[in-house]
Amino acid sequence: MTQEELFKVLVAHCKEYGFIFPSSEIYDGLAAVYDYGQMGVELKNNIKNYWWGAMTRLHENIVGIDSCIFMHPKIWEASGHVGAFNDPLIDNKDSKKRYRADVLIEDYIAKLEEKNNKEVEKGRKKFGDAFDEAKFRETNPNCVRNNAKIAEVRKRMADALNANDLKELRQIIIDCEIACPISGTKNWTEVRQFNLMFSTQLGSVGEEANTIYLRPETAQGIFVNYLNVQKTGRMKIPFGIAQIGKAFRNEIVARQFIFRMREFEQMEMQFFIKPGTELDWFAQWKKNRMAWHVNIGMGAENYRFHDHDKLAHYANAATDIEFNFPFGFKELEGIHSRTDFDLGNHQKFSGKKIQYFDPESGESYTPYVVETSIGVDRMVLAVLSHSLKEETLENGETRVVMSIPAPLAPVKAAVLPLVKKDGLPELAQKIMDMLKFDFNCQYDEKDSIGKRYRRQDAIGTPFCITVDHDSIENGTVTLRYRDSMKQDRVKIEELPGIIHQQVDLGVLLRNL
Ligand code: GAP
Repeated sequence: MTQEELFKVLVAHCKEYGFIFPSSEIYDGLAAVYDYGQMGVELKNNIKNYWWGAMTRLHENIVGIDSCIFMHPKIWEASGHVGAFNDPLIDNKDSKKRYRADVLIEDYIAKLEEKNNKEVEKGRKKFGDAFDEAKFRETNPNCVRNNAKIAEVRKRMADALNANDLKELRQIIIDCEIACPISGTKNWTEVRQFNLMFSTQLGSVGEEANTIYLRPETAQGIFVNYLNVQKTGRMKIPFGIAQIGKAFRNEIVARQFIFRMREFEQMEMQFFIKPGTELDWFAQWKKNRMAWHVNIGMGAENYRFHDHDKLAHYANAATDIEFNFPFGFKELEGIHSRTDFDLGNHQKFSGKKIQYFDPESGESYTPYVVETSIGVDRMVLAVLSHSLKEETLENGETRVVMSIPAPLAPVKAAVLPLVKKDGLPELAQKIMDMLKFDFNCQYDEKDSIGKRYRRQDAIGTPFCITVDHDSIENGTVTLRYRDSMKQDRVKIEELPGIIHQQVDLGVLLRNL
């Protein structure tokens, strides 16, 4: 299966098994908006709990808040979003499709990188064990030519974005002979800037003064509560404030399922520090956040850092943690050194003093900030796309399995009476009653046991507990493991301990 086909299978699977539905589906859906179903919401909550625990419980100097989506409109002027939160867009005159100019250029660069990878694979086959990949990439004429082109285009794009030079962005697209993926033509309009914020009216409709925005990031809710939290929590710098919440962006080029949505959720943490220490903290948070990802167990090789060529209007250093999605390595999380841009501007726009008095040195200053910001939905997509597998079994049959890391799995155990008689359902219900206070469990007595195992595999349940006639005789059950399909005979009273060891978020947090 190609990666593209695999992605289609994933989208269909998410719908069929209650993970993710297109929003407003009975009205033909709403572009780039999705709802989470009964499985999706459990997965999402587990991801949020893992993040929240790692940030707030494991750090005595990080606390959480929950601020509102609606905020004073001046906040978005102070933050720079009214003036600068724009996407450079370009239209193809033949297909009438609209694209982000920088994404078109990035896709062009990705194609050159893909060509290099193919050259490398050819070289590997030709030279066998003696193959030196790094040297090959440096010396192979095709790779050398492609690398030079990549470096040139990257630099031109970074310069154009930093200088807000829309003409130059268009010129890069023309010079690279980038064609519209739909029409195949190079018939492009000018590049124009579009603001990404949604606006609405507060109170009576129609008065300009009442226009407010749906927040495009949760971070500003943290900044404007900095003084409240610092004072009431008696927080000493360095300290952090964490928040999970909805954010909204009018993404013109929304695609790739839940990767880029118009309504999405962020998990953000602003770490307030002394000016001058920001690059050390930036390095520390890069390390910390990468460890959080790798700890989930989806393979360290599937993550990488991508330092920004173009810095956002508020940052003096920035990197992305990219994940190996089915459509390639893409941004999963951003880590930004935001200086005192936000607090400084809120001080200016609100007229309120936002300073920290350091009791030890006796000095006052506006704190600097290092931020970590991850999209919950992108994390859901990372987990689902990594976990979905179709396996061929020894007997030639196939099974579809979602090998979701056990602490994140929506359902932890399924309790299955072998037959619907002889007291087996009653004993299975007793086991449910024992487990349900600690674990999200499902009871299922319909269809053959094989079919029930397959249903649980498809939603990623790590354990199936089968109750049979021997269970009544000797108090043991069959415990089936999702990934290995191995089956053990265990005592009923041992079940909570065995399940806990694999699925508990605390165990995951302890490994950090
Ligand atoms: N406060 C900083 C900030 O918002 P960002 O890089 O624009 O930075 C942070 O966004 C994270 O939010 C991204 O890494 C991504 O995971 C998620 N995100 C951003 N836009 C998104 C969208 N349209 N749909 C889904 N997730 C999105």
